[in-house]
Amino acid sequence: MTRFTDQRTGHMDTDAVHCGERRWRGSVTTPIAFTSTFVFKDMEEVRAYGQGETPHYEYGRYGNPTREAGERKLAALEDAERCLLFDTGMSAITSSIMALCKTGDHIVITDDAYKQTLVFVTKVLPPKFGVTSTVVPMGDYQAMADAIRPETVLIVSETPTNPYLNIADIDEVVRIARDRRVLSMIDSTFATAYNQKPLTQGVDFVITSATKYIGGHNDLLGGAVLGKSDLLEPIHQWHRTTGGVIDSMSCYLLLRGLKTFTLRMARLNSTAQMVAEFLESHAKVRKVYYPGLPSHRHHELAKRMMKGFGAVVTFEINGDLRDTMAFFNELRLCMLAPSFGGPETLITHPAGMSYYKETREERYRLGIVDELVRLSVGLEDPQDIIEDLDRGLSKVR
Ligand SMILES: Cc1ncc(COP(=O)(O)O)c(C=O)c1O
Repeated sequence: MTRFTDQRTGHMDTDAVHCGERRWRGSVTTPIAFTSTFVFKDMEEVRAYGQGETPHYEYGRYGNPTREAGERKLAALEDAERCLLFDTGMSAITSSIMALCKTGDHIVITDDAYKQTLVFVTKVLPPKFGVTSTVVPMGDYQAMADAIRPETVLIVSETPTNPYLNIADIDEVVRIARDRRVLSMIDSTFATAYNQKPLTQGVDFVITSATKYIGGHNDLLGGAVLGKSDLLEPIHQWHRTTGGVIDSMSCYLLLRGLKTFTLRMARLNSTAQMVAEFLESHAKVRKVYYPGLPSHRHHELAKRMMKGFGAVVTFEINGDLRDTMAFFNELRLCMLAPSFGGPETLITHPAGMSYYKETREERYRLGIVDELVRLSVGLEDPQDIIEDLDRGLSKVR
């Protein structure tokens, strides 16, 4: 079997291009394994495979070369021993948590987590699986430590968070987890390995939605969990049984997207900083939330935890709901769509899009005000993005 290119240089630019690639019969790029199953030569090969003497693939749900290449490349970038790829970020989160918990176990989770992660932990797990949880305020490490019980197995946090880009002190999370002998899991989707590497700080599991910056082109869905091989083994077994497998075409797109990962992330970090500074200086903007701004409540912590601050900028229009709608309707370049992490600048109205099912009162309790805007800065010319936002803001009374 052709070998994978696994030599890590420790230089992310080089590893993003070369690590994990499976250069089959001289091909520069990794071929797409469009097959659901794999053929054995004879019963001797079946036996040797079963005994672990010969590497082979068996059946598509258990893996294929394109998926393995993607897993190896992502593991190299995140400084992980191992990576498991899933069909979506949510699949990586739910599968990992279910694999690590059993009935009677308890999870501590921060309140400022992705909405569907919180729904899963607080609403799905207790009645269906008897796994309970305590939701603690993001940034309250005493509350996090106090919430741990004898039956606690896992602390789950996210950093930066959506939509206010709050930053967790990863060192504190690790200290608490180690002190109390529980596992720690960080959803690092907003930062990516380019901006922070929680595993190197002692976190047990990193989760990422590959749909965002990892794929990086708004053209695939995927998710990953990364960490030490032995810790990932129960999740691997769970994955084999339950499925949730990423398809080969998406794996190929992921491999392709990752080759320009460092270039994209460097550019996105710098454009987002420019856009955030522009917005903060604009009279029609009430408040900007971006960890790269000194005005952000976690700016100092972000500087300690992160190399760059990512490409999501959240802000409040200095007006009311009508002004906010007028702003959105005037935009020409920024596209009104959920998600983030791709080349196209996307913009959302959290109150009307992610939180449209909640009442206004519920939304306000969560801090989702009518004038809130979430911008996913893309790879266009920064001036074009700024001009478009300025055009929209000119409609604010
Ligand atoms: C922080 C975070 N984690 C996980 C997910 C889920 O990822 P996916 O949409 O790939 O399932 C999202 C989606 O937006 C997210 O923002």
